[in-house]
Amino acid sequence: MPDSPSLDSTTASDVPRPRRSCLAVPGSNPRFLHKAKGLDADQVFLDLEDACAPSAKPGARKNIVAALTDGGWGNKIRAVRVNDWTTKWTYQDVIEVVEGAGADLDCIMLPKVQTPEHIVALDLLLTQIETEHGLEVGRIGIEAQIENALGLINVNAIAAASPRVETIIFGPADFMASINMKSLVVGEQPPGYDVGDAYHHILMSILMAARAHDKQAIDGPYLQVRDTDGFSRVAGRSAALGFDGKWALHPDQIDIANDVFSPRQEDYDHAENILDAYDWYTSDAGGAKGAAMLGEEMIDEASRKMALVISAKGRAAGMSRTDRWEPPSS
Ligand code: GLV
Ligand code: MG
Repeated sequence: MPDSPSLDSTTASDVPRPRRSCLAVPGSNPRFLHKAKGLDADQVFLDLEDACAPSAKPGARKNIVAALTDGGWGNKIRAVRVNDWTTKWTYQDVIEVVEGAGADLDCIMLPKVQTPEHIVALDLLLTQIETEHGLEVGRIGIEAQIENALGLINVNAIAAASPRVETIIFGPADFMASINMKSLVVGEQPPGYDVGDAYHHILMSILMAARAHDKQAIDGPYLQVRDTDGFSRVAGRSAALGFDGKWALHPDQIDIANDVFSPRQEDYDHAENILDAYDWYTSDAGGAKGAAMLGEEMIDEASRKMALVISAKGRAAGMSRTDRWEPPSS
């Protein structure tokens, strides 16, 4: 049984670290690894999977360990994407990276997750390595990429498979290939489908599993890296649904993702004002009311919950208020 939500004690500080932009960096390229340290992404993931040719993987493991232990990543979340369990590389990827840089690593990203057992296997391996090397057991998180039909069908169980799971990530390129979608342009609608959004069911299923289990939901790559308008448009769709961030394959995509997945300034100000006003109106000084008027809008406990989401995302993004509600003077 998954944990049921606790009695409402949600505060802005409960919200996890932002992952508005998740920059992909090929582990086989030391120059890119070095350059990534200075970029403004919330997260980096150093890739041992599809961005590394098979013969480059052993060298990439070494580059990644060196780049992590050298430091210089600031506040970025540091993840390493290993190869999936159907390959021959996964166990060596995990062992070499975590033994070499476990203390300097936040998450392992596991691609092509198809069943909860894939997560359990990684969890067990991480626990053994952490125990053997005196690392805090359970600190390294898991990010699960959903990239085919079986993974999507099992996404709820995958999200619940371990407390280590921090994110559920949509992998659109592999997903489109796996379901035989008639398009080569990742994130764009397949030609001939003109009655809706071909990705809606997939994105919503991932989002529901993530929210049901208190994980972050992340949208995957947009491959036309020179098309910044296209990137904004596709990022805007998953952001509108409630996703927490999106991959960036190129530095030009980072600022756009940080912007699209942050609240608008007016929404952030409004959310903070709802929290202040609701706090005051429910207090004895404000009349201990359950619902109250804020300007033309009625606010109640549900408004506070919505405002908390926006406020927490804004605070995590380092936003400051430009407008402040004051209690009415008596
Ligand atoms: C990412 O891994 C994708 O397949 O889109
Ligand atoms: Mg993929």
